Amino acid sequence: MDVALHELHVGQADTLAQLYRENRSHLQKWEPARDDAFLEPDHQRKLLAEAQRLREEGRRWAALIHEGDEYVGFLALNHIVRGALQSCQLGYWVAERHCGRGIASGAVALGLDVAFGMLGLHRVEASVRTDNPGSVRVLQKNGFRRIGLALSHVFLDSSWHDQWLYERHEPGIAQ
Ligand SMILES: CC(C)(COP(=O)(O)OP(=O)(O)OC[C@H]1O[C@@H](n2cnc3c(N)ncnc32)[C@H](O)[C@@H]1OP(=O)(O)O)[C@@H](O)C(=O)NCCC(=O)NCCS
Repeated sequence: MDVALHELHVGQADTLAQLYRENRSHLQKWEPARDDAFLEPDHQRKLLAEAQRLREEGRRWAALIHEGDEYVGFLALNHIVRGALQSCQLGYWVAERHCGRGIASGAVALGLDVAFGMLGLHRVEASVRTDNPGSVRVLQKNGFRRIGLALSHVFLDSSWHDQWLYERHEPGIAQ
């Protein structure tokens, strides 16, 4: 498998809109509510322009996951904090028809390389719904450690959900 991360740019608006449209029901349980306008390329163009601004400001780094000859998912290092913390929050999803092939596991490994390499961060956090064992496994395979349970932590698909909290430090720090 040949998984790569391609930094977001405005030219990916049509592709991203199509990915969101094709995976609307697949992502509904795990992603914030999306209205119809969100699925339009014009709206994605605005979000991608905003993503570029946030990257330039060093506040967020995000990419499409590429495998074979197509885009198959999304990964983001959100809420980058500098100063004494040097941390960020990881998020990701894989298109339904590509799930179960190791793509998320590979993409998260590459995302950690970006976080600890290019961005020079010290720690990556991830929170995952307690009813998402597949995503828990992706984190475990990438060396994340469970550090707690946040009750009623995220509002998704019309209700609040508990989430496991995970962390992973840069190489060289005891995990
Ligand atoms: C969760 C998600 C990212 C996984 O993507 P993926 O490319 O299928 O993940 P991978 O193939 O790399 O790895 C999945 C692992 O979970 C395991 N798994 C899948 N479903 C499982 C389940 N119900 N119980 C236990 N393990 C499970 C797989 O066996 C695999 O582990 P293995 O490699 O040891 O066999 C994908 O299903 C997705 O995008 N879901 C919707 C959005 C989402 O949940 N995002 C994450 C929010 S924290």
